[in-house]
Amino acid sequence: MDKIRAYLDERLGLEGLLEFMSHKKVPIHRHSFWYYWGGITLICFIVQILTGILLLVYYRPGQGAYESVRSITYDINFGWLIRSAHNWSASLFLFSAFTHMFSVYFMKAYRAPRELGWWSGMILLALGMLFGFSGYLLPMDDLAASATKVGMAMLDILPKVGPWAADLMRGGVTVGDPTVQRFFALHVVVLPMIFMPLLGFHLWLVQKHGNAVPPSEYDTPVEERKSVPFFPNFMIKDLAMWLIALNVIAMLASLFPFQLGEQADPLKPAPPGIHPEWYFMSAFQVLKIVGKIIPGTPGEVVGMGGFTLGLILWVLIPLYDGKTESGVKARNAHYFGLLALGVLIITTIWGYAAL
Ligand code: HEM
Repeated sequence: MDKIRAYLDERLGLEGLLEFMSHKKVPIHRHSFWYYWGGITLICFIVQILTGILLLVYYRPGQGAYESVRSITYDINFGWLIRSAHNWSASLFLFSAFTHMFSVYFMKAYRAPRELGWWSGMILLALGMLFGFSGYLLPMDDLAASATKVGMAMLDILPKVGPWAADLMRGGVTVGDPTVQRFFALHVVVLPMIFMPLLGFHLWLVQKHGNAVPPSEYDTPVEERKSVPFFPNFMIKDLAMWLIALNVIAMLASLFPFQLGEQADPLKPAPPGIHPEWYFMSAFQVLKIVGKIIPGTPGEVVGMGGFTLGLILWVLIPLYDGKTESGVKARNAHYFGLLALGVLIITTIWGYAAL
């Protein structure tokens, strides 16, 4: 063992890493539970990669897309399970990423020097949603094609870049085989190529700065704050959380297999109750509500404009409430977070109720 250790140390500088690991600590307080959610997001992403690679063995983009997914679902051994796990884990990935984002927000972990962690996280979340959007079309069943058309119509509303981006993604006047080809390239090449290095940067920042303590700990002197070593104490709990997440995915995937509808047919009318995936439901519903109050294009522009403004404020929060202090700014940011969370939950439930 000593020889192997010396061999690796000479080539990789292992001792430095072990030294670093042995000193890494995680703060312990009544909100520590929320520290697990970044890790849960990570394990879901790992499941996405592994199940995605297996799906790639049989999936064919373009004209044969529907038939290949039909064959994965009904002919290939355990194909349905892998496909189902890929879909459920995508939902859990986005659910845990949102939970992670809100917990980071309410713990004020976006404050200096962690702003880059916040901003890189926002881009990761946006890319995660794009993964979901592009993946949803790939089976090319009627529901997927119609929901993508709705998504494209939302993109079309954006001034100037909207129609251009929608055209580029569609590859034609309507959602069809060329769109699947483009979404496929986005889903398996372009997005992973951007996501992976950015994720590496995000995780490196956490190692560099350690976990932030929430405002409830600010009054406790630094030397009196409780913490546990990351290795092995916190890591074992992290791994237990991963095991729970894997079990949840396995149960959902096997008990509620992901369905495949009829093949998309541009000549047929859209099936009733078309709606986007749950993580786009809030934006979809806000647009619908504003559209009812202000009909036509002006309503769409106002809806998208309001949403974009809210998003910009959300992204820029470290510039407003960036210092470790309590006060008016800290309180305003907290209320803004509660408002955002409330609007997100209410409009999502409302969206489903109105289907
Ligand atoms: C989408 C994929 C993401 C992955 C895989 C991921 C992963 C992680 C992990 C493993 C940690 C360390 C453990 C923890 O504090 O929970 C972390 C910390 C952090 N993440 Fe993420 N994250 C993601 C998205 C986000 C998002 C959407 C945001 C916010 C916009 C964000 C902001 C942060 C910040 C500021 C920290 C430092 C927290 C602290 O110091 O306590 N991350 N992330």
